[in-house]
Amino acid sequence: MGKYIVQGGRKLKGSVTVSGSKNAALPILCATILAKEPVILKNVPDIADIHAMISILKTIGTKVEFKDGVITVDPKNVKSTYVSNDGKHCMRASILLLGPLLARFGKAEMEFPGGCILGKRPVDTHLSAFMGLGVQVVDDQKNIELKVASKGLKGADIVMSELSVTATENVIMAAVLAEGTSIIRLAAAEPHVQDLCNFLNSLGAKISGIGTHELLVKGVKSLKGGEYSITGDYLEAGTFAIAAALTNGEVEIKGIDPHHLDSFWQKFSELGVPYELKKNSAIVKPHGKLKAITQLRTAVHPSFPTDLQAPFAVLLTQADGKSKVFETLFDGRLNYLFELEKMGAKFEILNPHQAIISGKQNLRGVHISSWDIRAGAAMVLAALVAEGETEINNIGFIDRGYDNLEQKLKKLGATIERK
Ligand code: EPU
Repeated sequence: MGKYIVQGGRKLKGSVTVSGSKNAALPILCATILAKEPVILKNVPDIADIHAMISILKTIGTKVEFKDGVITVDPKNVKSTYVSNDGKHCMRASILLLGPLLARFGKAEMEFPGGCILGKRPVDTHLSAFMGLGVQVVDDQKNIELKVASKGLKGADIVMSELSVTATENVIMAAVLAEGTSIIRLAAAEPHVQDLCNFLNSLGAKISGIGTHELLVKGVKSLKGGEYSITGDYLEAGTFAIAAALTNGEVEIKGIDPHHLDSFWQKFSELGVPYELKKNSAIVKPHGKLKAITQLRTAVHPSFPTDLQAPFAVLLTQADGKSKVFETLFDGRLNYLFELEKMGAKFEILNPHQAIISGKQNLRGVHISSWDIRAGAAMVLAALVAEGETEINNIGFIDRGYDNLEQKLKKLGATIERK
């Protein structure tokens, strides 16, 4: 894995257009194998996770081409129902192929998925939702091996065991070709789940309730091919908004629906960062002193996204007073604070989910590492505001989720090099 060298203290200015959403593109890529004809996807981010998913799709027989943000998929010759997770393809999102494979072939098998180091991330929510549609679990120990009962997938009333993003996506992808109607209760409603539903509907699926926690999926016989543009990445947008606020610059972030980030902008207001929301962009403006916030509590959409918790915590180190961070979803998502501590951040960890951050602290450039995609982004953000030079190792994690991060930051005036 390479590293970034960042010189801190440069004010960011200008505009940046975010790429398509990673967490929308991954399930949508998997969903293409449900179609009978070729599918063209536009605005696809050029990131490591997308390349890994393309490799996996090729191993099962899908024809895939990726050029200039456009992916063409021909799913006609998919033959294998075995999803391999060898070292190269170690990615939790590969679990998203289970739903489409079950719908198309009536069986699916995969090695246990990898992914970021984010504490315990069980697969039970996926398996129990599949079982509701008539899927039998043949093995869930070494591999995950699933098969559909002889009568085929049957629409059902399913209550998800928690509001899980990828489990909701998996059961939607299975239900679109099931016989009859499914109700998916306690469905995740994140913008990427909505984008998957909109994509499937564009191919002829019948999903309603999109954006709510109760989806109605009327099974159809088949899905046609088509063309679809992936929604802008609100998590990347939030990362750039924090970069602008940290350096007290002025940046317009384009290519998003700014209302995907309502809970985020509300925290900007509490901190004292001015912004303006337009139809497809947001402008972050220079601010005076930042005030600590009472609590940054992550939860499922539309609450504050867990994926922006670590990046936002960097901003909290620059606010006067004590701010509480409460990570309600993941167990291991406060570890990045120990890297920030090396830069001079002051905090107290109350338990694996809660910490108090004390500001304002001047951060200084040191050698640090990224822990996962979002913690890695947080390190880059901290480096932008730190005094002197910061070296960030393990940036392969950042490459998994951020398309061309250093080029976009450079264009805004940051001094950042990849080594
Ligand atoms: N969880 C709860 N309560 C809930 C919902 C979830 O405790 O109400 C726990 C789960 O038990 C699990 C964890 O939170 O341990 C994650 O939940 P989920 O199953 O929703 O996560 P996921 O589907 O595996 C997706 C994203 C992650 C993102 C999470 C949460 C994709 C490909 N991955 O993962 O993205 O953090 O949802 O929003 O969509 C990232 O982009 O950096 C990333 C890790």
